[in-house]
This record gives sequence, C-alpha cells and structure tokens, in this order.
Amino acid sequence: MTANELRKKYLEFFQSKGHAVIPSAPVLPENDPTVLFTTAGMHPLVPYLMGEKHPLGKRLADAQKCIRTGDIDDVGDNRHLTFFEMLGNWSLGDYFKREAIEWSWEFMTDSKWLGLDPKRIFVTVFAGDKEAGVDRDNDSIEIWKEQYKKIGMEAGVCELDKKAEKNSRIFLLGKEDNFWGPAGETGPCGPCTEMFYDVWPEEGELQGTHDELVKQFRLMEIWNDVFMEFNKSAEGKFEKMAQQNVDTGMGLERTVTVLSGKENVFDTDLFLPIIQEVEKLSGKSYQDEEYKKPMRIVADHIKAAVFIIADGVEPSNVQRGYVLRRLIRRAVRQGHVLGIKENFTTKIAKVVQKIYGAVYPEILRENILNVLEEEENKFAKTLASGLLKIEKYLSNPEGNFIYRKFGNETQQAPSYFNTDAAELSFDLYQTNGFPLEMSLEELKKTGITFDEEKIKEKFNEKLKQHQELSRTASAGMFKGGLADTMEKTTALHTTAHLMLAGLRKVLGEGVHQKGSNINGERIRFDFSYGEKMTDDQKKAVEDYVNAAIKENVKVIMSEMTPEEAREAGAEGEFGHKYGELVKVYEIPGFSKEICGGPHVKNTGDIKGVFKIAKEESSSAGVRRIKATLV
Ligand code: ALA
Repeated sequence: MTANELRKKYLEFFQSKGHAVIPSAPVLPENDPTVLFTTAGMHPLVPYLMGEKHPLGKRLADAQKCIRTGDIDDVGDNRHLTFFEMLGNWSLGDYFKREAIEWSWEFMTDSKWLGLDPKRIFVTVFAGDKEAGVDRDNDSIEIWKEQYKKIGMEAGVCELDKKAEKNSRIFLLGKEDNFWGPAGETGPCGPCTEMFYDVWPEEGELQGTHDELVKQFRLMEIWNDVFMEFNKSAEGKFEKMAQQNVDTGMGLERTVTVLSGKENVFDTDLFLPIIQEVEKLSGKSYQDEEYKKPMRIVADHIKAAVFIIADGVEPSNVQRGYVLRRLIRRAVRQGHVLGIKENFTTKIAKVVQKIYGAVYPEILRENILNVLEEEENKFAKTLASGLLKIEKYLSNPEGNFIYRKFGNETQQAPSYFNTDAAELSFDLYQTNGFPLEMSLEELKKTGITFDEEKIKEKFNEKLKQHQELSRTASAGMFKGGLADTMEKTTALHTTAHLMLAGLRKVLGEGVHQKGSNINGERIRFDFSYGEKMTDDQKKAVEDYVNAAIKENVKVIMSEMTPEEAREAGAEGEFGHKYGELVKVYEIPGFSKEICGGPHVKNTGDIKGVFKIAKEESSSAGVRRIKATLV
C-alpha cells in the first residue's frame, strides 16, 4: 500500500463512521502563543476540544502536516522524523473509549481496510497516577480484551515495568508514556492507549519489558488514541473538562512502513525517491552503513524545510525562522559529509514537491526554491568565515606557539588548548552555525592530538549556560494564566477582524490578510498593500476599530458553504483550503469574515483602546502591523 492509498483509506473509513473530513491546517499554529509548530493533529482543534462548536459537527477526521523538532537528534534511526503526517479522528464530546478502540481495531485488522495481522498488534494502557489523581484505565483494558477475543485470543495484562509473558498483549504504562499532552504548556490532555506493531515476528515470543522492546526497535508505535478529558492549567492542575473528547493520531510514515513489510520509515515511497536523489548527487550508496544516517538527515530536514517555508516562514535567528535555518544548515552540513560539493538543497526540494505536490499544492510555489538557495549561499559564506577564524586562531602568536612547540615536536596540545578550543568551537557554533563535530574536524587537521572528550564537556557546559539564559529571557513570553491569556487572545482576535475591515475601508478593497500571529499581548498582522501608511490612514483605521468597540455590537456567527460565504461578501483567504462548511463571523456594520473562531460575544468585551504600534514593510507588496489594546 502506498502512502497516498493509506491516507485515502483512513479518511474513507472514518467517513463511513460519520466523520467529516477537514483539510490539514498549516504547520504554523495560528493564534497560539504556546508552541512554534503544529506538533499533532489535535493542535489546530484545541478551541473545539475545549468546547467551541465546530461547523462540521462532533466527528472529524483529517491528515495533518506536523513538525516536531524535539526529536531532531534522533533523526536517522528507523522511525524519528521532524516532518510527518498524522492521520487523526476526533470526537468532540461525542463517542468515547469504546468506539475509538473498536474502530482502531477494525481499521487496522479488517482485510477491507489495512488487514494487519492482529497477532502482531500489542497495545499499551494507562496504569494510573496517584499524584495526578487519574485512575488506571480499566475500561480500555476491558475493551481491548474484547477485541482480541473476537479472533479467539486471550489478551493478558502486563503490569507496569514487568517483563512480557507468553500471553501479554496489553502493557500498562505510566504517565510519561500513556498520558498525552498538552501540546504546549497548557491545554487539553488525557490518558491514552497506544498501538504497536511487531516488526520482527520471526524472533518468536516477546522478551523483556515494553520499553526494552521499543528501544530494540522490535515494537513500532503506529497509533495513539487519547481520551482527552482534562485541561492542564497554567498552574499545572489537571481540571476535568465539561466535554469528553477522543483525539487519535496514526503516524502515516510508520504505518505505511509496517504495511509494506519494512521496518524503517526511510524505506517507503515517501522517502526512497529523495534518498535516490541524494545518492545521485553524492555518488555514494545508501547501502553503505556509513552514509545511511547523513542521507536520512538530508532527506528528512529538506522535506521539513520545504513544508515550513511553504507555510510562510523564512530563515532567521529567532524562533521558527531559527528552526528552519538549523534544519537547512544541518542538511547542508550532512551533504558535505557525503561529499556533495555544489548547492543541492533545491534539487532535493524538487523531489519533495513531486512526492507531495498533489496532496499539498502549497509546496509547489516557486519561491520555496529561492529561499533554500539563498540560505544555502549564506551558509557557504559563514562557513568560509568560520574556517578563517580557525585559521587565524591557529596562526596567532599563541596558536603558533602550539604549532611550534607542540605541533612539530610532541604533537601534544597543552592543557589550556581544551578550554581555548571549546570557546572557539562555541563561538563558531553560535555565530557561524558550526556544529561541534565540524570544529573538531578542522582542529584535527592541524595534526595536534588533543583531548576531544574534554572539549566536548566544556562545550556542553557553555551550551547549557547559554540555554538557561535564553530560557529565562523567554519565560516572560507566556506570563499570565491560560484563561487570562485565552481571553486576551480572543479579544485581540476579534480586534484583528475589525482592523482588517478598517484597512480595507481606508486603503481599498485590494487589501487582504496575508498572515497573522496573535498572543495575549499583541496582534501581528500582515496584509497586501504596496505603500507605507500615512499617519492619517493609521488614525482612520484606529478610529474605525475603536468606534466598533465603543458601539458594543453583537458578534454573529453563522455556518455556510465557502461559496455562500463569498457570495455573502465575507472576507476569506484566497486559495485557502476550507472544509465543506465554514463559520462566518459578522460584526454588523463593521466586518464579515470566514474564520474558525473563537471570538468575543460583543465588541464591548474587547475592553481597551485599539492602537497601531508599528507599521512596516514585511516583504514585497506586503505590510506588517503590530497593534495592541491599551
Ligand atoms: N495527540 C495524540 C498524539 O499526538 C494523538 O499522539
């Protein structure tokens, strides 16, 4: 089965169970200050999991583009990726554990769907946690037993941290493994049950604990059903939500791996064409163990970069832009390890476009290749200047000293060399983007022998110090409790609608939204317009918004098809993929926009005076406004 077939089947299956299929949201979460990227299918659905009504009902399914950078150092093993697709189905306060588990089982094992061998499926269930005040999930245990019974199997329960026994099917795990979420610091979460596939059944009965079996790569996790009943507050409390939800996530890449009888995500149709291109460009073979990991990293990172750029991020030194920069530079660096001399990222990107273009047409944009090319050129420049720094260090009087006295005679570096080299490496890492290994390689070229471990140790110390500092610096970012932040974000969200309407009124109908990012403190808003706004224009927009706030107008939500919404004159993002039904938020006399919400009930709830703090160019033909409520 190909990945495209799997994606299609999954959505068909859940459609047959009354789910509405919704399009993937961008990889950049909108209006959520707590995370950089969409890390799971549930992420764009947080407002609905917390009780907001979804226009397509209480049962939803989709394939969602996700980025997870927490696992970046694991990329290159058989299952970790930074970009992946998550197939998901949701119950928004509708069905719960029974249906979720029964449907998971049916979809996995029925020959009409995936037809996986049920004997190779093992599951995990939440063992309970006293501290969090959540009980062992006995309901799920019973429901799983029933599923195995359908095929005449007695499913044994393996207690927490115990070794598998002959009939073990259901493994109990603690909160690190079987309590999911929230995606950011706060939000919906709950106990989960995960499904694993045995990729080496020829090894016979399972030996060891569940954790060991996963680490040995014998059990591959493919699906997670989360029973989302709690909201984690900013104080770290788990509060029961009014609505009991189901949130599931099936890893597309991993599932297609086991379906094609492979044990490695890179051996699937989502990666092989990319790996082949890397082979072609480098003249190296993927069969050569030495080159497997670098090739996988190149393939994964460039793929992730393409999707991130497609959703509107450019490389920079902060936040999302920094993640993107790291992905591209790590890939380029691995390209060098493979011996690729020329710029190559755009060649890989073209293969990514071929694999995914039909499903995610946003990645076909020409400028994606330009962004990659430019970043690759920039990196080449910093590499060159970094190498120059190393040379300079080695030829300065002290460096020379090392050379003369030790380089030629004993070849042994003096002890202070470790400290110096660690400092130099850290500077190269920070300002030139050199990974530590690269600096070490350069230093080795001098022929001096030195204590590599010591340098690594000192480098890591510095890195830790630095990270602590930046964490303290960003801690202020999310201050205020969740409820408070959410309320302010909602108010600013409605304000953004009023502002767009005001901009269109003052600057003309050619103005459309190009992007927005709202947190509890401010609105950042990009819109199409070619010139700098005058002070009078800014004032006119502020007056427009403030008049609406003052009038305390009721915000009206209605549901309709995207076509009806356009006919009704609602503003929407051109070319944006919408589901069959959309919500339209109208502020009569002021604004009408297609939007998922949430919004305030009355404009008077916005509380405050709207102020444009800054208006500047964002990119060609696009202006950016930063605005607040004071
Ligand atoms: N949100 C759950 C996960 O990401 C389904 O595993």
